[in-house]
Amino acid sequence: MLHKVHPVASYPARKTHADKSEYQRLYNWSVEDPEGFWAEQGKRLDWMTPYTKVKQTSFEKGKVDIKWFADGQLNASYNCIDRHVKKNPDATAIIWEGDDPAMDKTISYQQMHDEVCRLANAMKAKGVTKGDRVIIYMPMIPEAAFAMLACARIGAVHSVIFGGFSPNAIADRVEDCQAKMVITANFGRRGGNEVPLKSNVDKALERDNTGSIESVIVYKLLEDDTAMVADRDYWWHDVAGVCEPVCDPEPMNAEDPLFVLYTSGSTGKPKGVVHTTGGYLAYAAITHEYVFDYQPGDVYWCAADVGWITGHSYIVYGPFANGAISLMFEGVPTYPDVRRMAQVVDKHKVDILYTAPTAIRALMAKGDLPAQGTSRESLRLLGSVGEPINPEAWDWYHDKIGNSQCPIVDTWWQTETGGIMITPLPGATDLKPGSATLPFFGVKPALVDSNGSFLEGAVSGNLVITDSWPGQARTVWGDHDRFEQTYFSAYDNMYFTGDGARRDEDGYFWITGRVDDVLNVSGHRLGTAEIESSLVEHPAVAEAAVVGYPHDIKGQGIYVYVLPTDGTEITEELTKEVRQFVRDDLSPIASPDFIQWTPGLPKTRSGKIMRRILRKIAANEFDSLGDTSTLADPAVVDELIENRLNK
Ligand code: PRX
Repeated sequence: MLHKVHPVASYPARKTHADKSEYQRLYNWSVEDPEGFWAEQGKRLDWMTPYTKVKQTSFEKGKVDIKWFADGQLNASYNCIDRHVKKNPDATAIIWEGDDPAMDKTISYQQMHDEVCRLANAMKAKGVTKGDRVIIYMPMIPEAAFAMLACARIGAVHSVIFGGFSPNAIADRVEDCQAKMVITANFGRRGGNEVPLKSNVDKALERDNTGSIESVIVYKLLEDDTAMVADRDYWWHDVAGVCEPVCDPEPMNAEDPLFVLYTSGSTGKPKGVVHTTGGYLAYAAITHEYVFDYQPGDVYWCAADVGWITGHSYIVYGPFANGAISLMFEGVPTYPDVRRMAQVVDKHKVDILYTAPTAIRALMAKGDLPAQGTSRESLRLLGSVGEPINPEAWDWYHDKIGNSQCPIVDTWWQTETGGIMITPLPGATDLKPGSATLPFFGVKPALVDSNGSFLEGAVSGNLVITDSWPGQARTVWGDHDRFEQTYFSAYDNMYFTGDGARRDEDGYFWITGRVDDVLNVSGHRLGTAEIESSLVEHPAVAEAAVVGYPHDIKGQGIYVYVLPTDGTEITEELTKEVRQFVRDDLSPIASPDFIQWTPGLPKTRSGKIMRRILRKIAANEFDSLGDTSTLADPAVVDELIENRLNK
């Protein structure tokens, strides 16, 4: 197959962290001598007790154990703040751009230090100690980063929950990790709307399984008569405002948990992916520096939310570990109108922009308008993350946003990988639109067939990683068996990503998407099982099957087949109600695009739903349904096709 290639030489020449031969040298070193390579890279952090051990990892079934720098001690907040303050206290840490274009501010490393220490002291005063879990449910304001770093400073394990998640989702996470404290704001602001964060927390804490929470710290974002529960809820400015701006960083073992982040899988409720301190931070730092070719003084904008892993690694930990300027945006790319993203780039002279294909496609749908009246001439690098980027979107991003002057780094990675795994490096990798290209240092990807046999050459298969890297998740909170089952049971001695990929004749990887029952809707991961179990909670739904289908903007849309309970009258109102029910129960991201009521689902004689058929019907491709002879009742299929909604 022929691909369009954008060679390194087609971009303005500049000195980058690596060129082609440097990439090859470092990559070879990293995979031939991981101990030596990472022993050296670990030095980019400041250690309280230097490590003597580097890599102690096993992917063996029943014995999965991953440790990096295991006898070293350090503090992530110290590494992200104090060591930069010592050099230059006035250097900018955060440029904050509000939802309202008239609002912005700049925060120096010294100011960040003081705010983090005050909050850390307030948390201690409320009884939070090393190892305790703290939920952070915040809008995109600097205080969200302060809260994460305050936890890291005192050794508390944070679990950030995306501000779009529902009270039920909060309660599930509180219960799972037995959190002691919630840090929130009374409201959030997004796209001109106010989001009632504090009242969502109140609703969550009304559930009787959330009794582990002792206190709630509330940042006052808007003046309002917010209801505060006595002896539980405290205003941020009351408790942190009175504290000293100095707090000694807690010495942490490299393998002490830094955070838990919940993400969807193919079965059950979201699982708490655990990242630890040393390896995660070193990996976030090195990837941020090389992939974005970060140079001192660059304005770097990762347009994600801190509620996702992208925000953890590339708004907070990676950039701050490198002393970078991280732009934090409270709003959405289409508010007040579709030019916003380009306007923010011009306003703050952004050098590096990292966003998601879904945002690019939403803008692309508006033609030239999103770039109108802006120059974007400060940009020199673009990044993409979260889902495959189709070549049309790649071209539009490249030409319209990047003025055809900026390489695009299409970065493939996952919540579980902690940092970027397959990616071009600017100045080092020739680009092919739609391909995440080549592995980062220390990453050994491979393709296997369903038996786990390695596939060689230009071929498609299941994407696995055959050896450990420092940023890798260590376990699932409270359930190491689930960790082993999910990632290490499909194939012996390999980490299974859940993704399929194709490798081309140049060894470039093209990620084709999930091969399990996980959907990727606008770059957000959703388990079909999770949506199904929400649907059947509704009294009108007896059974549900959820599949994804190709969606122009969201990448995948959510198509739901539901069996009504006996005697249910199906009306448009009821369909709306069921949709709202899922939104309220999980989050608006999980809102079904299509809800098709049906008297039956295609099942095998042993009762297994044949999702393959449901996917085809949802994609409006029912001409190629494949073998339906094993169905218990083939007539069901005709009925489903007849009443399909995605025509
Ligand atoms: O399917 C892959 C897709 O997103 C999944 C990971 O989702 P999450 O853990 O939420 O992390 C997203 C941000 C890192 C992967 O299994 N994915 C992520 N990046 C890409 C991608 N698919 C194709 N190309 C990418 N660049």
